[in-house]
Amino acid sequence: MSDVSRANFGSKIGAILAAAGSAVGLGNIWRFPYQTGNDGGAAFILIYIVCILCFGIPVMIAEFTIGRHSRSNTARAYQILAPGTQWKWVGRWGVLTGFLILSYYAVVAGWTLEYFLQAAGNTFIGKTPEEFAASFTSFTDNLWRPVFWLILFMFATHFIIVKGVQQGIERSAKILMPILFVLLIIMAICSILLPGSGPGLEFLLKPDFSKVNSGVLLSAMGQTFYSLSLGMGCLCTYASYFQSDTNLTKTALNVASIDSLVAILAGLIIFPAAFSVGIQPDAGPSLVFITLPNVLTQAFAGLPWLTYILSTAFYLLLALAALTSTISMHEVVTVYLHEEFKMSRRKAAWLVTSMCSIIGILCALSMGVGKEYTIFGMNLFDVFDFLTAKLMLPLGGFFISIFTGWYLDKKILHDELNSGGHLPLFVYKAIVFILRVVAPIGIGFVFINELEIL
Ligand code: PFF
Repeated sequence: MSDVSRANFGSKIGAILAAAGSAVGLGNIWRFPYQTGNDGGAAFILIYIVCILCFGIPVMIAEFTIGRHSRSNTARAYQILAPGTQWKWVGRWGVLTGFLILSYYAVVAGWTLEYFLQAAGNTFIGKTPEEFAASFTSFTDNLWRPVFWLILFMFATHFIIVKGVQQGIERSAKILMPILFVLLIIMAICSILLPGSGPGLEFLLKPDFSKVNSGVLLSAMGQTFYSLSLGMGCLCTYASYFQSDTNLTKTALNVASIDSLVAILAGLIIFPAAFSVGIQPDAGPSLVFITLPNVLTQAFAGLPWLTYILSTAFYLLLALAALTSTISMHEVVTVYLHEEFKMSRRKAAWLVTSMCSIIGILCALSMGVGKEYTIFGMNLFDVFDFLTAKLMLPLGGFFISIFTGWYLDKKILHDELNSGGHLPLFVYKAIVFILRVVAPIGIGFVFINELEIL
């Protein structure tokens, strides 16, 4: 099946870093801490880790298998592996999901640039908690600023995409991921060393299972798919660039470990610092944009230069983490248009950038000047978030595991999982069992839960 004229990641470490770059993003550093804060801390984290082991890693292996064996974009992959069937719609569904997520994800990614600029311009020092909240609202209510940053972010993504797989995606991931990691570790150490950080650490490390209910279980599962970039063929597309002897199981384990580690580091940055200045952990989505600058300012009140360095570095790395994720979503749609509609890569990328920017502008405005226009009580941004993260990704994941577990020729799965290293038979059997039974039932649970909310 392999198509030698197609690009490949130049090295195995490049492949791991590019996939980890897709997984690590706003989902880890922005969404994970506030979900943890809302859902009881350590108990949520433990359930999340179980979900990653039971559902996340097997579904990632399924996406890798489909992508590498077909050596194709996610839509064509199903046509190659299941010719003449309706499975092609799973791939097309993924492309649509990627396109929609990119449109609104880039809005929050744009906010990180605004906050990076504010931090670099030294505007945090001396602000009160109320002023931080007011400045966030006045920014999102502004007609131009969120739109400007969104477009700038889309152009940055576009620039890397047109540079191509090896030069653009792999090189940027190779440089960005290690920097991100080092910065997060430094910030986590600073946060833990703050006086009064103990209760924050306890909140993260000492599980209180009395707070666990089915909602917590389901939200941990939803976070798994979102954070690991599963369910929309994103990692399937990246796997189509893997070398033929890249070990898929090891790569999935590495990506999931890096992703979980970054999420836990984000928790270690935010909660010890928040507790040390008496800020509640369940502050919600504003945790990163309102609470964090407030925490950094208060926590290092006598050391303004440290606030300056840490806040500037934090928002820069958040922007970079978001960039490696927007690149992966953009790539899914660009390569689909490029390969299926015989467009040049550059033209396909332009089409994606401009369409996503237009939808993104509407999403950004829907949080400010267009607030009063709602659908089912939600603004456009929330509608996109709900539709994609809560409905489309779980549905995609559900069909990917059924396809790989039940439909795909087991010889293909076996050969793919054994290339680049021997996989013990019981591990192979466990993966097949999870893909056939455990994952579809688990994802079905998430999906039904979201429907009930509707
Ligand atoms: N995993 C990314 C994050 O945690 O920010 C978000 C994401 C990227 C979701 C790519 C889905 C996707 F296909």
